[in-house]
Amino acid sequence: MSQSSQQAAILDRYHNTCIIGAGVIGASWAALFLAHGLNVVINDPNPEIEAVVKDYLAKAAPSLRQLGLPHEGLEKNLSFEPDLERAVAGADLVQENGPERTEWKQDLWARIEKAVPKHALLLSSSSARPATLQAKKMQDASRLLVGHPFNPPHLIPLVEVVPGEQTDPRATEDSVAFYTALGKVARVIRKEVGGFVVNRLQRAIFREACYLVQEGVVTIDELDDCVTNSVGLRWAVNGPFSSFHMGGGPTGLRGYFKQFGHGMKSSWANHSPVEYTDELAQLIIDQGDTAYANTPMEQMERQRDDTQIALLHAKSAVSFSDKKA
Ligand SMILES: NC(=O)c1ccc[n+]([C@@H]2O[C@H](COP(=O)([O-])OP(=O)(O)OC[C@H]3O[C@@H](n4cnc5c(N)ncnc54)[C@H](O)[C@@H]3O)[C@@H](O)[C@H]2O)c1
Repeated sequence: MSQSSQQAAILDRYHNTCIIGAGVIGASWAALFLAHGLNVVINDPNPEIEAVVKDYLAKAAPSLRQLGLPHEGLEKNLSFEPDLERAVAGADLVQENGPERTEWKQDLWARIEKAVPKHALLLSSSSARPATLQAKKMQDASRLLVGHPFNPPHLIPLVEVVPGEQTDPRATEDSVAFYTALGKVARVIRKEVGGFVVNRLQRAIFREACYLVQEGVVTIDELDDCVTNSVGLRWAVNGPFSSFHMGGGPTGLRGYFKQFGHGMKSSWANHSPVEYTDELAQLIIDQGDTAYANTPMEQMERQRDDTQIALLHAKSAVSFSDKKA
C-alpha cells in the first residue's frame, strides 16, 4: 500500500471524531481535522461556542491554504453537541482539550468510557496531566493516552504521544499513525514525567530568561531578539545535541565535552537565583505593555503563523533537494 493510501485508510478508520473543549487548542484541532475531511462533533458548554469555532476556522483558513490543505466549506462536517454522552456516542476518536484540572479530566474519562464505542482512541491534549493520573476513575484505560500538541496544533508539527501505565501499545501505535496521517510529527515519550519533554525545556529556558530580565541584563524584547536570531533559528534545524556535536569540531560531542565539560560541572551546580514573585511577573508584564503596545494580538499571530509556515516550507524544500542529490 502506498503512503498516501495508508494515510487515507487511517483517516477513514478515525473518520468520526469528537472534540471536547474547543478553546485555544480544541478549535485548532477542529480546523485541522476538518481540513483532512474528518467529521467533527464539538462538546463545549460555552453558549457562544459555535461562533467561537466558526471565527477560528475563518482565522485559520490562510494558514491551512498555505499548508496546501482545504480551507473552504469546512463547516459542512462540523456539528455541536452539548450532551457529553451523545457527543461521543459515534466517535472513533476523542481529542480532549478541556480545563487543565486533574479531577475534571478523571471524571470526564469515567463518563466517556461508558458512552464511547469500544474501539475509539481516547486522546488528551493535556500539557501536564499524564494518562495514568487521568485514568484513575476508569475501568479500562487501554485506549487512553496523551496527545500533547503545541499551539496552534494545526500548524506546529510536533505531538508528544505519551502512553500511560495501562495504555495498550497498539493504541500508542494507532495514535502515532493517526497524527502522522494528519501531517504531524508524532513522537512517543518513553516515560511519564511532569511537563513531558518540550515544556520542561521551555520552563528551564523561560526561568533563565526571567532571571536575565530581573537582573536588568536585557529587556524582554531584547531577549526575544537575541533568541530568534541565534538558537531559535538554529534549533528549527538542529536540536541542542546535534548542534553541539558540530560545535565540538572534528571529534563532535567527544571534543565538545572535553572542551566544555569542566565548565558545565560548576555552572550546573549554580542555578541562577530567581524566584517567581508577583513583582517579577509585573516587571515583565509592564515591559510587555510597552513592547507590544503598537501590535494588535491578531497581527502578531498572523506574522507568527506566516513566518512559521515559510520556515516549514524552507525545511521541506531543503530535505527534498537533499534526497534528489
Ligand atoms: N494553550 C496552550 O498553549 C496549550 C498547549 C498544549 C496543550 N494545552 C492543553 O489543552 C487543554 C485546553 O487548553 P486551552 O488553552 O485550549 O484552554 P481554553 O481555556 O482556551 O479552552 C478550554 C475549553 O474547554 C471548555 N470547557 C470548559 N468546561 C468544559 C466541559 N465541562 N466540557 C467540555 N468543554 C469544557 C471551555 O468552554 C473552553 O472552550 C488543556 O489541557 C491544556 O493543558 C494547552
